[in-house]
Amino acid sequence: MPRIAYVNGAYTPLEDASVHIEDRGYQFADGIYEVVLRVGGRFWDLEGHLKRWARSLAELEIRAPISEAALKIVIAKLVEKNRLGDCMIYMQATRGVASRNHPFPSADTAPALVLTAKPIDLEKLNAKAAKGVAVITRPDIRWGRVDIKTVGLLPNCLAKEAAVRENAVEAWLVKDGKVTEGSSSNAWIVDEKGRLITHPLGNEILGGITRQTAIACAESLQMKVVERAFTVDEALKAREAFITSAMNLVTPVIAIDGNRIGDGAPGPVATRLRARYVQHNAEV
Ligand code: PDD
Repeated sequence: MPRIAYVNGAYTPLEDASVHIEDRGYQFADGIYEVVLRVGGRFWDLEGHLKRWARSLAELEIRAPISEAALKIVIAKLVEKNRLGDCMIYMQATRGVASRNHPFPSADTAPALVLTAKPIDLEKLNAKAAKGVAVITRPDIRWGRVDIKTVGLLPNCLAKEAAVRENAVEAWLVKDGKVTEGSSSNAWIVDEKGRLITHPLGNEILGGITRQTAIACAESLQMKVVERAFTVDEALKAREAFITSAMNLVTPVIAIDGNRIGDGAPGPVATRLRARYVQHNAEV
């Protein structure tokens, strides 16, 4: 069965789906996106993702292409049309099509909306987490508003490619000696007292929806969460490390720049937190 995409109001076979070459997303990365997981028939953290979607649009003054209620219907229809079980949904909105010129186009320019969906293999994701992943560190060379989930991801792509070339799964981005976040995930460590440490919200990280839920899950497990920046040196000495994102859920990190973290295997804190996170999403 061919995959179906949603493009500006129409459900189209993916291979025929296209946007205009003067779409501002294509020319200026003038757009935003979200990634949502659907597992066991439930959309994980959908409300949180839709809230951030609205925030990203508002921060960039891009008009919402359709209402939140309509977007929910499109998401459900796309899954149905693709006959998907467990899957991830990608949704992207841009400022629309206009003759190339840096300032915003006229206010009546229609924003563009594109959605795709593809199957995910939860077993595979679980197997990856059970083994743990390696990360490398790279300088954080991104712009000053990475709290907005824009499609302008070139520095993230360069960092991720560097990670892949070193057989790692993620690159942790470092600014002024501190780890901000991963190229497509939030970064966490567990210190010698068992405290979970992750960079505070602000303009220097994307406020991960998984991060937010993971904080609530950790607290429900009586784990102490401290939102502060940590150094690479602290990370290297950490008892445990892990990453959070829609696609990684909570995934233990077992090596940083080739140095083993803890005893080089997924630690108990990350493992318990992942289980609690999965349970939470199965329940809400
Ligand atoms: N990335 N930080 C960055 C830079 C990200 O790109 C992401 C998500 C996160 C985690 O956010 P969340 O928990 O809401 O998924 C943090 C998505 C999955 C992506 O680009 O594919």
